[in-house]
Amino acid sequence: MANGPPLVPAGDALPLVDGFGRIISYLRVSVTDRCNWRCLYCMSEAVTFVPRSEVLSLEEIERVCSAFVALGVRTLRLTGGEPLLRRGILTLMRALSRHLESGRLDELTLTTNGSQLADAAAALAACGVRRVNVSLDTLDPERFRRITRWGRLDRVLDGLAAAQAAGLAIKLNCVALKDVNEDEFDRLIAWCGERGFDLTLIEVMPLGDIDGADGFSRARQFLPLAQVRERLARRWTLEPVGPRTGGPAHTVRVRETGGRLGFITPLSDNFCQSCNRVRLTATGALTLCLGRAEAVELRPVLRGCSDDDRPLLTALRNAIARKPEAHAFGAALCPARSVAGRLMNLTGG
Ligand code: 5AD
Ligand code: SF4
Repeated sequence: MANGPPLVPAGDALPLVDGFGRIISYLRVSVTDRCNWRCLYCMSEAVTFVPRSEVLSLEEIERVCSAFVALGVRTLRLTGGEPLLRRGILTLMRALSRHLESGRLDELTLTTNGSQLADAAAALAACGVRRVNVSLDTLDPERFRRITRWGRLDRVLDGLAAAQAAGLAIKLNCVALKDVNEDEFDRLIAWCGERGFDLTLIEVMPLGDIDGADGFSRARQFLPLAQVRERLARRWTLEPVGPRTGGPAHTVRVRETGGRLGFITPLSDNFCQSCNRVRLTATGALTLCLGRAEAVELRPVLRGCSDDDRPLLTALRNAIARKPEAHAFGAALCPARSVAGRLMNLTGG
């Protein structure tokens, strides 16, 4: 026995398990906090971005991602801000795609506002990206401009067409807003069905303080999706689909279109027991739960040792062990308070 193989694999071969027995297999990375738009629910028009010196370099991001892959993470999702605005992003994705080729990574993907997709779609597909999530809250150009403040719907529609032509599967993320786009969900379901897109409706989350400019208030525009779902179920046949995948969405299939429809309800739901993910902010803070302040600063670890990954791997394991059991969105529902003063664009949606 003494010379036999160890019963428990050593070191990096152990899966990343948190203090509640959850295996961490999914990393979301905000590659920039910057965005070319100013969506009402996301950031104020006068937002200040973090100084560039505090943002991780592409090499540093690549190092953290690869360390996570070595520790068993199987899905990497790049977000922002708008990830496709980061200079060199395709170089980073190409570098990360080697983990797809080696079989250590199942999926390399991104969440984007779609504004740069027309140019980037083919290159993304060439990096091994198979699907993208695109934010789209409305199909009405005027409304689109009002919600995004600076965005243009036609750019996104061109981007979606390019993504489709490049063979990418598409899921639209739509933030459900009372009095803003709640009359459009039927149209969106039909539109997505015709194109073979999946659709996810998202409850607005209290992430970071934004001013009340434009008369927008997250509390006033909060729309409980339980209500929406009830309404949709009168018009569409919503059929259950397979088990949950560790993500926060409740997904159904719309029989009439064949499309998948997800509901993300962080405020009224508790999906934490099956949470499999952590997030890396643009400045290198490892955020252990989207709805809590706990974070571990990786930038000092990265900049402190550039040629030895062992301190980084240890820091990652120690951080994961501290992942909170559940989010605290319930406590933050009060509109004046926000979770940890963080904005979505820094943390990554
Ligand atoms: N609440 C809910 N969703 C948000 N997003 C950005 N800010 C918020 C918020 N406060 C969405 C974007 C995008 C996704 C990544 O997160 O619209 O679709
Ligand atoms: Fe930019 Fe997305 Fe925030 Fe809109 S929601 S401002 S597109 S990061």
